Amino acid sequence: MQKTLLTGIKPTGTVHLGNYFGAMRQLVDFQNDYRSFAFVVNYHALTSISDGALLKKLTLDVAMDYLAIGLDPKKTTLFLQSDVPEVTELSWIFNTLISVPYLMRAHAYKDAEQKNKEVNVGVFDYPVLMAADILMYGTDVVPVGQDQKQHIEIARDIAQKFNHVFGATFKLPEPMILPEVKTVMGTDGRKMSKSYGNVISLFASDEEIKKAVMSIPTDSKGIEEPKDPATCNVFAFHELLKAENLEDVRTRYLAGGIGYKESKEILIDNLRAFITPLRSRREDIARDPEAVLRILREGGEVARAEAQKMMHDVREKVGLLLSL
Ligand code: ADP
Ligand code: TRP
Repeated sequence: MQKTLLTGIKPTGTVHLGNYFGAMRQLVDFQNDYRSFAFVVNYHALTSISDGALLKKLTLDVAMDYLAIGLDPKKTTLFLQSDVPEVTELSWIFNTLISVPYLMRAHAYKDAEQKNKEVNVGVFDYPVLMAADILMYGTDVVPVGQDQKQHIEIARDIAQKFNHVFGATFKLPEPMILPEVKTVMGTDGRKMSKSYGNVISLFASDEEIKKAVMSIPTDSKGIEEPKDPATCNVFAFHELLKAENLEDVRTRYLAGGIGYKESKEILIDNLRAFITPLRSRREDIARDPEAVLRILREGGEVARAEAQKMMHDVREKVGLLLSL
């Protein structure tokens, strides 16, 4: 039987190269090989967005982004998290199985708490809802970036706990983290993240690409000096894109003879060649939002039917379902 792959992106801002290489591309690469689900993680987005009109816009954007990168709705079920409200019920049941100290050890909560003492309960409970998302569909693999690894471990712990208490029900999911792109670095050398303002958007304009690349900090080595590709922020992007001239650029770094200005110019060209077709597909898709809504509606029905089957079993096992 085909294994199941599930992936999700939170609609909280522009999708960037970190999201693409860390989590989105795998879906497109593997949609022929797995029973695939992709969803827009809008319940989770509520932990940071309290503007209905904005959330609606960002949600539709993420659905369009998935379609633009090549998600084929005939192969992958694309849906909104909120079209499967059963996940909130499942997360409630999970909430009753795990302890507060256990959840307090989650990195995301600890980070949020350090920044802001008044963390909302949704942030605290975030990994539990994520576990419900993953376990609901019998997921085997979850493509994510390195930063989400702990969340998959929590989902595994919760599955084990439930199975132990109520009998075998949930599969144990595995993260799918590509070793070569564990963490995509941003233009400032820190992890690329919407919240750091160091991103290159997956659909950036030519001008935005140029501006972002030009802002990447480098050291002060002269053109002729040999350079270490492993420590250069510009080269990290060359490696990510794997353009045809990658090995040529690497050789020139090691030998000396390429300056950072030229390296950046090559990168701008490569990024434009990579992004332009994505951007133009994205523009085509945006011309027909009705079609996108239709895909989401149909995907939501498929996902929900699956969730209802799982919840029937869960409700029966935990004792919520009365039947004589
Ligand atoms: P952000 O940090 O920009 O808010 P999200 O938390 O919405 O990104 O992440 C969505 C998905 O993209 C997750 O699977 C996450 O692991 C992945 N991801 C985000 N940033 C990166 C990055 N810099 N490198 C690799 N994967 C990333
Ligand atoms: N936590 C993920 C992120 O920030 C979003 C997410 C929620 C998710 N549920 C998921 C990702 C299930 C994959 C599978 O990116």
